[in-house]
Amino acid sequence: MKPPKSVFSCQECGAQSPKWLGRCPDCGAWNSLVEERAAEAAPESASRYVAPAGGGARLYADIVASDAVRMTTGIDEFDRVLGGGVVPGSLVLLGGEPGIGKSTLLLQAAAHVARATGPVLYSSGEESEHQVKSRGERLGVGDAPLYLLAETCLERVLEEMARLKPALVIVDSIQTVFSLKMQSAPGSIGQVREAATQLLFAAKALNIPTFLVGHVTKEGSLAGPKALEHIVDTVLYFEGERQHSHRIVRAAKNRFGAVSELGVFEMTATGLKPVPNPSAMFLAERPADSPGSAVLCCIEGTRPILVEVQALVSTSAYGYAKRTAVGLDQTRLSLLLAVMEKRAGLALGGDDVYVNLAGGITVDEPAVDLAVVAAVASSFRNRPIAQGTAVFGEVGLAGEVRATAQAARRVREAEQMGFSRCIMPAANIDPKDPGFAVTACALVGVRSVREALEHLLA
Ligand code: TYD
Ligand code: MG
Repeated sequence: MKPPKSVFSCQECGAQSPKWLGRCPDCGAWNSLVEERAAEAAPESASRYVAPAGGGARLYADIVASDAVRMTTGIDEFDRVLGGGVVPGSLVLLGGEPGIGKSTLLLQAAAHVARATGPVLYSSGEESEHQVKSRGERLGVGDAPLYLLAETCLERVLEEMARLKPALVIVDSIQTVFSLKMQSAPGSIGQVREAATQLLFAAKALNIPTFLVGHVTKEGSLAGPKALEHIVDTVLYFEGERQHSHRIVRAAKNRFGAVSELGVFEMTATGLKPVPNPSAMFLAERPADSPGSAVLCCIEGTRPILVEVQALVSTSAYGYAKRTAVGLDQTRLSLLLAVMEKRAGLALGGDDVYVNLAGGITVDEPAVDLAVVAAVASSFRNRPIAQGTAVFGEVGLAGEVRATAQAARRVREAEQMGFSRCIMPAANIDPKDPGFAVTACALVGVRSVREALEHLLA
């Protein structure tokens, strides 16, 4: 008899090697290879294969386009990040730090679906039925047909899925599930990938939407299985910090909707409540007439949101200047500071610069540039930006202000939130655009950083 074969799998990216290595040759992670028993792949995958109904390849023209009817989760901000509700048979991964609210959000959605559509299977490998129930009491699950299964064995979960034919399945969490067919420990990349793949087959075959909870590592990626992101249809992340009472859920990948779509919630004593007007929430604690504060109109997914950008410039106490960015890219900040120094003549070289997006939101679209420049210059000159002014625009290395996408929608959001002036890229102001025709906002088009600062700190 041949000894069982083992492989070494990288717990970060899933790459495999026949021998142990100190560093993964694929992703470069150190000490991430763990020994796993190789699965007897060939015979098993043959038995698993089910020929799709309807046979072979079909002509494109013969296929009837069907706009899948989406199921609502009863939480409109959650429906929004999903792209307008849950698509039948889709596999959704919800990631986030421990304690941020993954189980809470899914239990609330489960209760609503159970009440409105049909039975829901909630499989929890992390908590006992009693623990889930006591949370459910706080959330008002009541007598909805919700089935709890405290189980970590994948095969049992699949069995229950086939038996109950629920309207929705929740697996909390994918890292605790293990398949009997594999010998590696639960949470190892082989197990996680196997479990996700099997659940994908089941979700598609039975046409049951399935949510997987995934843990996030300290570095902020989904624990180990980057590979999971390729398997599932949609990846959602909880963003921000536990210390805030509000929570942001963002779509990182979505086969059925816009990416970087945001859902904003508030954690209350009775679960997560949607925040209908995020701009108002992000601007709620903005100090009046304080230097170093600028309001940005950004577009997250399909929605315009106003966010406060805060900057603090102070003389550096040590030999080298410190630059810290929270909520935006550190390199981008360094680049913008260099542009301000060189193209607008602000001598920031010897100063510490801290920039923060209020409310724990992260923005990575280029339109944030001009707001960062505005906030830093305002703190540097110790002069507040006039009340009622909103800012957006991309900044180039020559100090030019470049056009951004969807300018009219940003202006409209600013107007709705009571702003009377927008400092924006000149190239975006198109008098023929009907979006601008009705606005009561004064539009100030600027071509360069220098010009923008003249208007902002006049
Ligand atoms: P939970 O959903 O258990 O987090 P995760 O599954 O992501 O680990 O949420 C836990 C936190 O939420 C916990 O600190 C308590 C808080 N919480 C509330 O504030 N209100 C509630 O109604 C519930 C159920 C939880
Ligand atoms: Mg949990």
